[in-house]
Order: sequence, then C-alpha cells, then structure tokens
Amino acid sequence: MKKGTLIVLAFVLSVVFLFPVAYAAEEVAEVIIMESPVFEKHKKALVPLTHKKHNEEYGIACAECHHVYEDGKNVWKEGDAVQKCSACHSEAKAPKAKKGEPKLTKQEKIKMFYYSAIHENCVACHKAAKKEGKAAPTKCTECHPKKKK
Ligand code: HEC
Ligand code: HEC
Ligand code: HEC
Ligand code: HEC
Repeated sequence: MKKGTLIVLAFVLSVVFLFPVAYAAEEVAEVIIMESPVFEKHKKALVPLTHKKHNEEYGIACAECHHVYEDGKNVWKEGDAVQKCSACHSEAKAPKAKKGEPKLTKQEKIKMFYYSAIHENCVACHKAAKKEGKAAPTKCTECHPKKKK
C-alpha cells in the first residue's frame, strides 16, 4: 500500500474506534471510583462516588456538581460535554503557606487546587444534608476508611 493510503486508513480506523469511546464518556456512569492522576500517589483509600444514585435517588441535579462558569454564572447544561474536574482545578493540593507569605483564600484554593475543590463539593453538601438527618458522610474515615495494614 502507498503511504498516503495508509495514512487515510489509519485516520478512518481511528475515527471508527475513538468515536464510540468519546460517546460512551457522556453517559452517566453508575459508580465512579475517584482516582485522579493529579495525585502522584494516593495516601488514602479511594472513594467510590455513587454517581447515578446521587442524581436519581438523592435528587441532585447534574449542574450542582458540573459547571462551566462564564461571567460568574454556571452555563453548563445537561447534554454538554463533561470535563474532568482537574481540567480546571488542575493543581493537586495547596502547599502550606510559608511564614510571612500571604495565605491563599478559601476561594483561591478551590479555584486552583483539585484537593480543595473536590472536598468543598462533596463535604459541604454532605454537612448540609447531615443537618437534615441524611446519612451523608462528613468525617475523613467515613469516605477514606483506614487501609488495612
Ligand atoms: C465525602 C467524602 C470525603 C470526605 C469526608 C473526605 N474526603 Fe478526602 N477525598 C475525597 C475524594 C472524592 C477525593 C479525590 C480522590 C481522587 O479523585 O483521586 C479525596 C482526596 C483526598 C486526598 C488526596 C488523595 C490521597 O489519597 O492522597 C487526601 C490526602 C484526602 N482526601 C484526605 C482527607 C482528609 C484528611 C479528610 C478529613 C479532613 C477527608 N479527606 C475527607 C472524599 C472525601
Ligand atoms: C454529586 C455530584 C455529581 C452529580 C449530581 C453528577 N455528577 Fe457527573 N461526575 C461527578 C464527578 C465527581 C465526576 C468525575 C469527574 C472527574 O473524574 O474529574 C463525574 C463524571 C461525569 C462524567 C464523565 C464520566 C466518565 O466516566 O468520564 C459525565 C459524562 C457526567 N459526570 C455526567 C453527569 C450527568 C449528565 C449528570 C446528571 C444526570 C451528572 N453527571 C451528575 C459528579 C457528579
Ligand atoms: C471548565 C472548568 C471547570 C471544570 C471542568 C470544573 N470546575 Fe469547578 N470551578 C471552576 C471555576 C472557574 C470556579 C470558580 C468560580 C468562581 O469563583 O467564580 C469553580 C468553582 C468550583 C467550586 C466552588 C464554587 C461552586 O460552584 O461550588 C467547587 C466546589 C468546584 N468548582 C468543584 C468542581 C468539581 C467537583 C468539578 C468536577 C465535577 C469541577 N469543579 C469542574 C472551573 C471548573
Ligand atoms: C449536592 C449534594 C451532594 C454532593 C455534591 C455530593 N453528595 Fe454524596 N451524598 C449526598 C446525600 C444527600 C447523601 C445521603 C443520601 C441518603 O442516604 O439519604 C450522600 C451520600 C454519599 C455517600 C454514602 C452513600 C452512598 O451512596 O455511597 C457517599 C460515599 C458519598 N455521598 C460520596 C460523595 C462524594 C465522593 C462526593 C463528591 C465527589 C459527593 N458525595 C458529593 C449529597 C451530595
């Protein structure tokens, strides 16, 4: 085969094989084991998010967790593509502020650091839900059970 033909063939095959993967990613996964590559290694037990259940049983709208902000407003709507949280909250965890250096505000930390964004999302809602008497985990070990040694 000529080189040109091979390139065309490779392109066609990549479309055929990559498209269904991209499509499947837009479906609402049942459970997502949260294991972000922003962390070089996980010190804590991995946390399973009962993704579909949160939406269907707990009645939480997609846009409570998924967003794209424009002028301070969430313009993401159901059916839009979903990016990884770490596409925007791209740093792992805020380092401790050194003496004399200004501390980052909570808002700044959330915007930059995945660790802050994910805990704010999950834990803030759970604290509110717990006040209403729901069984939402708020303690570290309720989400990250101690690893067996
Ligand atoms: C509602 C569940 C929940 C609670 C409560 C919670 N976390 Fe997490 N934590 C998560 C999720 C989800 C991630 C993101 C993991 C990922 O995507 O890799 C995470 C990530 C982490 C990470 C970085 C990944 C790792 O394993 O090293 C650490 C450290 C961590 N949490 C510590 C804590 C500590 C300490 C507390 C209590 C102050 C706490 N978490 C409370 C859900 C929770
Ligand atoms: C309680 C919060 C929450 C709710 C509600 C929620 N999601 Fe998610 N969703 C997440 C998190 C967290 C992830 C993982 C993101 C990551 O890995 O960075 C995710 C991932 C996804 C993905 C990517 C799946 C994958 O495997 O790559 C899609 C698509 C998605 N959600 C769509 C939806 C839709 C549509 C709804 C409403 C029907 C919804 N989500 C409701 C938190 C939520
Ligand atoms: C397209 C980029 C983008 C993606 C993807 C994204 N965020 Fe955000 N997020 C932002 C920006 C920008 C802000 C700051 C908004 C502000 O301060 O005005 C923000 C704010 C937040 C906040 C604080 C305000 C609020 O809306 O509650 C939390 C918590 C948060 N993000 C968690 C998440 C989680 C969890 C995911 C994945 C499910 C995610 N973000 C995905 C850009 C993004
Ligand atoms: C907007 C609110 C909200 C957000 C955001 C949210 N949750 Fe929840 N979650 C709930 C509620 C409410 C319950 C308890 C439902 C009940 O039992 O009535 C719950 C229960 C849970 C439970 C225990 C029951 C189960 O289904 O496994 C886990 C684990 C959990 N959430 C993990 C997470 C993680 C991890 C995140 C962040 C990625 C998250 N949640 C984000 C509202 C929320």
